[in-house]
Amino acid sequence: MSSPAPRGETVRLEDYRPTDFVVHGVEMTVELFEGRAEIETTLSLSRRNGVPADAPLLLDGDELELTSLALDGETLSRSYYEADPSSLRVEGLPASGAFTLSIGTRIVPETNTKLMGLYRSRGVWCTQCEAEGFRRITYFLDRPDVLAPYTVRVEADRAAAPVLLSNGNPVEGGPLDGGRHYALWHDPHPKPSYLFALVAGDLDVLTDSFTTASGRPVDLAIYTEKGLASRAAYAMDAIKRSMRWDEERFGREYDLDVFNVVAISDFNMGAMENKGLNVFNHKYVLLDSDTATDTDYAGVETVIAHEYFHNWTGNRITCRDWFQLCLKEGLTVYRDQRFTADERSATVERIGSVRGLKAHQFPEDQGPLQHPVRPREYKEINNFYTATVYNKGAELCRMIHTILGADGFKKGMDLYFERHDGEAATIEDFVRSFEDATGEDLQQFSLWYNQAGTPTLAVEERFDEGAGRLTLSLVQSLQPGAADTGTEPFHIPVRFGLVGPNGADMEPAAVSGAEVRGDVIHLRKARESVVFEGLGARPAVSILRDFSAPVTLEMRQSEDDALALSRLDPNLFNRWRVLTDLVGRALTAGVAAARRGTDVTFDPKLVEAILASVGDETLEPAFRAQILQLPSESEIGRMVGSDVDPAAVHAARESTRRRIGADGAELFAKLSEAGRPSGAFSPDADSAGRRALANTALDLLTAATGDLTAAERRFRDADNMTDRLAGLSILVNQFAGSAEAGAALDAFFRRFEDDDLVLDKWFALQAGVPDEGTVERVAGLARHPRFNLANPNRARSLFGSFASANPLAFNRADGAGQRLVAEVLLDLDRLNPQVSARIATTFRSWKTLEPRRREKAREALTWLAGRPGLSTDLSDIVERTLR
Ligand code: BES
Ligand code: ZN
Repeated sequence: MSSPAPRGETVRLEDYRPTDFVVHGVEMTVELFEGRAEIETTLSLSRRNGVPADAPLLLDGDELELTSLALDGETLSRSYYEADPSSLRVEGLPASGAFTLSIGTRIVPETNTKLMGLYRSRGVWCTQCEAEGFRRITYFLDRPDVLAPYTVRVEADRAAAPVLLSNGNPVEGGPLDGGRHYALWHDPHPKPSYLFALVAGDLDVLTDSFTTASGRPVDLAIYTEKGLASRAAYAMDAIKRSMRWDEERFGREYDLDVFNVVAISDFNMGAMENKGLNVFNHKYVLLDSDTATDTDYAGVETVIAHEYFHNWTGNRITCRDWFQLCLKEGLTVYRDQRFTADERSATVERIGSVRGLKAHQFPEDQGPLQHPVRPREYKEINNFYTATVYNKGAELCRMIHTILGADGFKKGMDLYFERHDGEAATIEDFVRSFEDATGEDLQQFSLWYNQAGTPTLAVEERFDEGAGRLTLSLVQSLQPGAADTGTEPFHIPVRFGLVGPNGADMEPAAVSGAEVRGDVIHLRKARESVVFEGLGARPAVSILRDFSAPVTLEMRQSEDDALALSRLDPNLFNRWRVLTDLVGRALTAGVAAARRGTDVTFDPKLVEAILASVGDETLEPAFRAQILQLPSESEIGRMVGSDVDPAAVHAARESTRRRIGADGAELFAKLSEAGRPSGAFSPDADSAGRRALANTALDLLTAATGDLTAAERRFRDADNMTDRLAGLSILVNQFAGSAEAGAALDAFFRRFEDDDLVLDKWFALQAGVPDEGTVERVAGLARHPRFNLANPNRARSLFGSFASANPLAFNRADGAGQRLVAEVLLDLDRLNPQVSARIATTFRSWKTLEPRRREKAREALTWLAGRPGLSTDLSDIVERTLR
């Protein structure tokens, strides 16, 4: 790894070596002009101790043009270097001591459609450097273990770009000749190049301030396109709450004089944590009640928190190499989840995270794109920003917390910050901090980072009435998968409770067998038992509380026990879980029935239990809404597992919805009206929960009655986007093709025509309609004047939604849906490989389809794989998916 690996070649963890040269500082001057940018980068360097005196310096580049090169200020003769667009090799550098290398490059931000490096979005100059974008600006040792302080001078036309930003603190600025001006920024914190950022443009700003716990004043600013700064108010509030939370919960303060956020229209990802200058997809900054849903508000809060929390977990302590990505991403997702749990509701947060894990990470872990949380090799690092690295990575942090307890976890985190501040660290460093701080042995636990796949946890219970003795036997197993990374038993923390007839957890007189500490069973072997003695009555076993480990749980619990838990379990997460498992079982049985052409039946006791929880006013509305939200069609497909017929899945789900809607009609009629928050709109979690419950109730009620008037009214009378979109979505999904649905879509379009973020919802909604005709509908929308494949949000809103949220149409039996997506991926690949590769992952479950559809998917993928000139991003995904 000391020499840059050519694109498309496999990079391996075991090949890691430090660089031959050390970078002590980076000084850049970036001159922005219409049609080009001129960059001069001066690196202070020295040869690392022990490196041979004749070893050349090898720098990464990507589509670069070298315009000058000087050693210690003297232009370097051509015989000393070789430059091409993707590398710069310099020979004859000093054997010892410090020297400087000044590198001139020229780039064209206007033609950069990959949106990596320096590009222009709506006239605004901006950068995205993670993971390997900095090399598209200048030649550099573009890897995360090269840390240096940066000083950056930005120059541009004052009218085109009155705002000039970079990392760190502002030093000075002022006018230049010819209507130009400059700004100088200094970031004293040594950082890797992927955290570099620069923004210049004619932007509006919302400002505020924050004083840290130790009294440091921080100027806060959110920059937006003209006229939109007022929509950043909620994001600003979220910044301040995040800053306070990190002080209170993790003891981490902010460390610069300014914290800047910029909202950008064209952005590949959600947001980026560049030091002191976070750059955001504007979707995660701009909100108001008229244009954003409650889900959007929650998303902004999460992403703002996440990027802010990276300041410590990612920036102050970064990753030694990209194999360690979960070190910053898994941990930071874990931190943003804890923040959401504290700010909103811990139970509802956990349900949401587990739903997300099962919907996105489980299929990845069980399909051809499988890889461990810490991969051992990659061809294209962009393709490893995955649900496994992020969400399973967060689960591993959560398990460490469960194993060590809150105190032990805090001690381990503190030691990690103390030991590794200012460094580029590894997973081993992270785990060792917890071991050293607590004395706990986490070596077996570390297998979770290295072995891919979702283990199965099978639990059986046996109760000896006479002896008052309960025996739980636990068996873990892991099937070898695509990644082939081993199947050793994990250390699995299983949180549990023994729920007595009155709903309280029972205390056994004695416990033996597998290690039990407090309410956690520590399963370490393939199979172990736990024996609980002295129980006066048979408890209902509440297992894997709060989803304490990312496993597939198999427990044939009696329906009576499950239903009792759904009413009584003190652990609210598990109340949701037992109902969801029963619903899942009923749905998979329903899919089999639909395929046979027989009636789909649904156990009346289960409907009753669902309605009892949903009607329970002592529970928070957001939780009740979660109980009512059936698993998606993709989720049901995953539960079915093989030979999946999406039409049968759709039929079973719809018939279940009608059944629940009919049985609960009275309750839903009440909830859909009376339960709604009154008074002026507020985005707080409680009001959002009430809207979610009311709108889910209306959806099911409408499914049962077939009467669209209430949905039409919700759409028409809405004073906020959540209700408006809920009404519209019922009309469009349940009454596809009706005059009413068409009129509502048109009215919505006319009203929000000038608002890109709302138009994305308009495209996405239509792409998701579960109807086979949606394939042609989507193809037509791709020719709509407001469609634009080059804008990632718009491309995702139409094709991402279609391929990920509409299994019925995407997998249409004639293959037209998959073919449409394959063709678009090819077009998109020429503009933006990263976004194209991301959307291509929606093919990941193709092997679970029934034979005819599977064959069509194979044809589409094979066709795509055979196109000449595919990017490494897209070909890596397509090839692994096909393999
Ligand atoms: N560091 C990432 C952004 C990123 C991802 C850069 C991939 C380059 C490639 C950032 O911290 C992040 O994880 N953003 C997420 C949102 C977050 C809330 C999980 C995103 O952009 O989706
Ligand atoms: Zn992140």
